[in-house]
Amino acid sequence: MSVLIAPSILSADFAALGDAIAAVERGGADLIHVDVMDGHFVPNITIGPPVVAALKRVTSLPLDVHLMIADPDRYLEAFASAGASIITVHCEAVTHLHRSLTRIRQLGARAGLAINPATPLDHAKEVAGEFDVLLIMSVNPGFGGQSFIPRSVGKVAAAKAMLTAAGSAADIEVDGGVDLTNAAKLAGAGATMLVAGASIFGTANPGEATQALRRAAQAGA
Ligand code: DX5
Ligand code: ZN
Repeated sequence: MSVLIAPSILSADFAALGDAIAAVERGGADLIHVDVMDGHFVPNITIGPPVVAALKRVTSLPLDVHLMIADPDRYLEAFASAGASIITVHCEAVTHLHRSLTRIRQLGARAGLAINPATPLDHAKEVAGEFDVLLIMSVNPGFGGQSFIPRSVGKVAAAKAMLTAAGSAADIEVDGGVDLTNAAKLAGAGATMLVAGASIFGTANPGEATQALRRAAQAGA
């Protein structure tokens, strides 16, 4: 099973996003992870649909848009129009989850469901047929460069068992504190997509860091 690497531009230089993306493209990145924060659902504020549209113009890689915003339904169409390939909403931010996930697919994007570290997997189980990506947060969302919560490895394994039992082939994506020390364990537990911000853009050579993370993940897969 191959593991997809999704560098998170949250830790890149926002004044030079095109260069950052070119660097990880050279390193063989599979997707570009875009963190959207609103200052309500999470304490931080980042970017919105115009930046996603601008990124779309400079890369052919799929844009993996992670919405950490309250009431994301209001913006699904805007992010789909901007060129998002995956649109992920948090179950903690949505009232009618089944409706939101269905809407994302109707808009032509892959539907992602994110769950916070304190949220039980059961929330995902009820809608297992309605998403294409299950994003397991391995830090509390809001900032790059935080420490990985070790318990997340067991949550990935439990998610894999839950999805298999439900007949879902959804990807399992892990986001937060992913680096060379935990990539193999996560892949071994069933993760198929790894997001990495600081461990890629916090290094002198993001392209090489992307390759190194892939090698580490493949060793555990
Ligand atoms: C955190 C974001 C992450 C973040 C990960 O709320 O969802 O995507 O960029 O950054 P690192 O890999 O530095 O933890
Ligand atoms: Zn993210």
